[in-house]
Amino acid sequence: MKTLWPETFLDDERLGRPSRRAATAALEAHLSVLKGEPLKLSLAEALKEAEGLGGQERRFAALAVRELSRHQRLLDLAARTLGHAPSKIGLLEDQALVRYVLWRRLFCGAPWSRIGPEVKLPGPIRPRTIKDDLLARVVETPLSEPAVPEAGAERLATRYSFPNWLVQRLAQLHPDAVLEPILAALDEEPSLHFRVRPTGTRDEVLARLVEEGVAAAPVDVALDAVRITDSSHRVFETKVMREGRLQVQDVGSQLIAEACRPLTGSLAGCTVADVCAGAGGKTLALADAVGRSGRVLAGDRSRRRLAQARERARELSLRHVSFPHPLTLENADVVLVDAPCSGTGSLAREPDQKWKLSAKAVEEFHTTQLELLVELAPQVKPGALMVYATCSLLPEENDDVVRDFLARVPGFQVEPLGPVYGAERAAVLCDGPFLRALPSRVPGGGFFAARLRKNPPAG
Ligand SMILES: C[S@@+](CC[C@H](N)C(=O)[O-])C[C@H]1O[C@@H](n2cnc3c(N)ncnc32)[C@H](O)[C@@H]1O
Repeated sequence: MKTLWPETFLDDERLGRPSRRAATAALEAHLSVLKGEPLKLSLAEALKEAEGLGGQERRFAALAVRELSRHQRLLDLAARTLGHAPSKIGLLEDQALVRYVLWRRLFCGAPWSRIGPEVKLPGPIRPRTIKDDLLARVVETPLSEPAVPEAGAERLATRYSFPNWLVQRLAQLHPDAVLEPILAALDEEPSLHFRVRPTGTRDEVLARLVEEGVAAAPVDVALDAVRITDSSHRVFETKVMREGRLQVQDVGSQLIAEACRPLTGSLAGCTVADVCAGAGGKTLALADAVGRSGRVLAGDRSRRRLAQARERARELSLRHVSFPHPLTLENADVVLVDAPCSGTGSLAREPDQKWKLSAKAVEEFHTTQLELLVELAPQVKPGALMVYATCSLLPEENDDVVRDFLARVPGFQVEPLGPVYGAERAAVLCDGPFLRALPSRVPGGGFFAARLRKNPPAG
């Protein structure tokens, strides 16, 4: 890594349309993130407030607010190098503005002649003490290389804007040559991925997308996954989309749903319990996999999320998905435990989490995950499969949970996942018996899954 500063810029098509109004929405949302609100909610509120924004401007605002959190550490280092360390700037609004103009400069390659109209006084956010000429200097003054070690965890954490504790932990697991592509992948805006329905019809759907003028490509590691390579978002207006043939779903989630499959044959006709169904992403994939002769029973601690799952199943007329309360597991052939986790594998999608997580929170997740498995285990029917999954990169939430579970609860065996995916895909996806999809190898994130088979009844 020669220089710490980015050497390539976001292309204009991905960027959407920068404007003063779009910058205002992005800055308002970023401020709300800095005050502790979740990014998704902050963005939704800011877009609601911003009247008359066009689709391309909304895309710019959404990308910008994610980018400001995503690259926060590097942007603040650039500000410090130019003599405007955030710690020396009292107002959060001023800090956000400096970050914004540096993002436009360093990650978009924009000159002051383009950035100026987006931020010049009297706006876009108030209160503000920074004058336009100072912002112009922040954009135009050459940046020197800061004093950061030539190699190692601190340099990687700085370049890709991660907290030191997380990169130090990951550096214990991977050499720099493996770790750098992981961090680089998590430091990028992820592409939009979809799952094609019904399963096995990917070629047909891809051909129809091409006919409708949307550029898309298959994703090799997941059987029904497509990546939309065209960033116009026109995919949402296509006929295949309106027919319900495409579901937004990241590749890792598709692989986790596939991890629930029997070793031979398909899930058709099976009963699957999705005990941490959330807003139903995997529930829908499982419903397609079991088909109308099977059943999916969905539950979640959050009633709000479960209501979203119910609505999504209703929209697709998936009548074989039910939401029993309490959710009992005695009839389930497969129990999916898509456990609450640190989300370290999904930081590309949720970059504000980088600055909220801590090593202590990871320890607490371990306890929650283990307790959840221990609590569910007696309800799993003999011979049935429990699939434990996370979107974490950390063994504390993955391998160690499985190890501690097996030590505490007798009567379960780890079943290798490789045969589910087949040798070619398993070579990319699996690590020993587990699914360990690294973000550098699998587009859209880091995921883990383990198959835990409950011993069949004796005799
Ligand atoms: C990783 S998310 C699930 C994502 C979801 N499966 C999907 O595909 O969109 C974890 C979920 O676990 C839920 N949860 C946390 N603790 C739980 C518990 N003890 N029992 C059931 N659900 C729980 C959370 O509300 C959250 O929705």
